Amino acid sequence: MSIHTDASGTSPSDTPWALVTGSTSGIGRATALGLAADGYALIITGRDKERAAESRRIIESAGGRAIDLVADLADPAAVRALIGQVREAIDGPLEVLVHNAGGGSFAPTEATPETMFDTAFNIHAKAPFLLTGAFAPAMAERGHGVIINVGSLSTSMAASGTCAFQASKAALSMMTKSWTAEYGPRGVRVNSVDPGYILTRVNQDIRSMFTTYLASLPAGRGGDPNEVANAIRFLVSPQASYINGATLAVDGGKNAVVVM
Ligand SMILES: NC(=O)c1ccc[n+]([C@@H]2O[C@H](COP(=O)([O-])OP(=O)(O)OC[C@H]3O[C@@H](n4cnc5c(N)ncnc54)[C@H](OP(=O)(O)O)[C@@H]3O)[C@@H](O)[C@H]2O)c1
Repeated sequence: MSIHTDASGTSPSDTPWALVTGSTSGIGRATALGLAADGYALIITGRDKERAAESRRIIESAGGRAIDLVADLADPAAVRALIGQVREAIDGPLEVLVHNAGGGSFAPTEATPETMFDTAFNIHAKAPFLLTGAFAPAMAERGHGVIINVGSLSTSMAASGTCAFQASKAALSMMTKSWTAEYGPRGVRVNSVDPGYILTRVNQDIRSMFTTYLASLPAGRGGDPNEVANAIRFLVSPQASYINGATLAVDGGKNAVVVM
């Protein structure tokens, strides 16, 4: 089966499914819409019921297929429930898993409550661990599938006061390599995309503080969510068939240069 079959030429049971966590806004929504345009049926998920339904409706109005399932990935029991709901709801193989949900609460280490630390690790590391454990074995059995981990520039660089966020994103980054070793030999490609400063909800209230910083980047601006989504779509596509265990920075050049 081609994983890029035009949705118009497939019966529902042939349709490959893609699950994008955090697809109720920003990078995740842009990715879900892009993968729907590429012929995947989409599982939209996040905590916000209204925005989840809105993502689904946008896909449906463009002629695609989608379902929306609400889950708080900070709660491992909710992740397990989501896994059960996905298994019940889809009528074809889950071919693509994008671990995108996330965000940050930041504080100096000594002022970081344990709950904040645990939440960061639950969303960025444990939820991907549980979801991959649930769905990657079937991909491996079929001999094809793609997993994308959305990391962060801070996976490889530190900033003061962001220990829980950075450490949890670094854990996810290592999972890209672990899963490449584990599932790669059975046809499942796993890669990371590390966004730089992307103009989404997470920074809309503080953007004016970053004008000088963004102008100093080689690209001279912040990124659009679609620019990250396009990188993910490429890594999902057959054009990326020999890319395993890689990390693609989508950061306007931030990681490559020292700003003087
Ligand atoms: N924007 C940037 O500059 C930037 C930079 C580096 C990395 N990233 C990473 O890119 C990813 C997407 O971020 P974004 O910029 O697109 O932000 P966003 O627009 O706020 O989207 C974040 C998504 O994650 C979901 N999410 C957050 N916490 C969740 C939880 N506990 N359970 C379930 N879903 C949860 C949100 O869903 P609900 O709101 O519905 O709960 C939302 O769909 C994140 O992993 C972020 O760390 C972003």
